[in-house]
Amino acid sequence: AIERTLSIIKPDATRRNLTGKINAKFEDAGLRIIAQKRIQLTEAQAGKFYEVHKERPFYGELCEFMASAPVVVQVLEGENAIAKNREVMGATNPADAAPGTVRAEFAESVGENSVHGSDAPETAAEEIAFYFSGLELVG
Ligand code: CMP
Repeated sequence: AIERTLSIIKPDATRRNLTGKINAKFEDAGLRIIAQKRIQLTEAQAGKFYEVHKERPFYGELCEFMASAPVVVQVLEGENAIAKNREVMGATNPADAAPGTVRAEFAESVGENSVHGSDAPETAAEEIAFYFSGLELVG
């Protein structure tokens, strides 16, 4: 089915000017960028977005990192977009990521891993609504 997923290009990647190279990987895989904006998160906003990880030991570090530089938030659309995006990203830990994936090529560590992608249809809908209004999604 045609799906939409929320993608974030994280501070380690925007700092190194990798937005275009990462977008090329998404587009080459058949994902269409139907919304995109560059924003600066506060730690509080990052904390709200990652609330599900609140009890994890890396939560504070994660929120601080996500607010350390601009991020590019985007909505990707396509056939099986959620799984396809996760394939293009590669494993969370770049040490485990398959060759050619975004994280294998660009990620610096499990924390500074260049991209985020929604993991299921329900979370995709919630995460898209966190950053975008319906009017901003132009399919
Ligand atoms: P993401 O897909 O954005 O969702 C939660 C994030 O937490 C994850 O990517 C990683 O960047 C981060 N994360 C996961 N495990 C660790 C860890 N052990 N140390 C620091 N950050 C982590």
